[in-house]
Amino acid sequence: MSVLRKLSCLLVAGIAVASLSGAAFAADEMSPEAIAERIKPVGDVYTAKDLEGIAPAATASTTAASGPRDGETVYKGACFACHDTGAAGAPKRGDKAAWEPRIAQGFDTLRKHAIEGFTGQAGMMPPRGTCAACSDEEIENAIHYMTDNL
Ligand code: HEC
Repeated sequence: MSVLRKLSCLLVAGIAVASLSGAAFAADEMSPEAIAERIKPVGDVYTAKDLEGIAPAATASTTAASGPRDGETVYKGACFACHDTGAAGAPKRGDKAAWEPRIAQGFDTLRKHAIEGFTGQAGMMPPRGTCAACSDEEIENAIHYMTDNL
């Protein structure tokens, strides 16, 4: 009997310690630093402000179209601002030297980088060139328009 009592005493003590440390843990979790760490955005975000003056056309071109737009239309609406001038380090349309090593990665990589966005050595390619309304197919068309006639 006394052994049992001792055991249950130990058990209660154990639970008390566990819940105490649980409370301490929870308090840590709720510290402003911990919360800020948890809710911070993943990666750096390219805001509309960053694009001011660089890509005014990109935001204007986000109206939904009935069918997939051809590469030239998408390019002129969403990609032109950077890829025609080389703004922000973008490889220029038709610039063979700039595109050849990129094309060598394979179309799937170009497509992935254009759709998801990526930061390379030259600069930062925003997801879909900021054209949120552009479908995957339209982005593909625009890539072809930029790289097919080198
Ligand atoms: C705000 C400027 C900007 C806009 C708008 C933009 N791009 Fe880019 N893009 C870049 C930059 C900068 C790079 C080069 C990044 C690097 O390699 O460091 C790039 C690279 C690329 C690449 C090469 C990816 C690779 O793997 O080398 C493709 C493909 C591409 N852009 C497609 C597009 C398409 C399609 C659009 C329009 C829908 C578009 N971009 C609009 C800035 C832009």
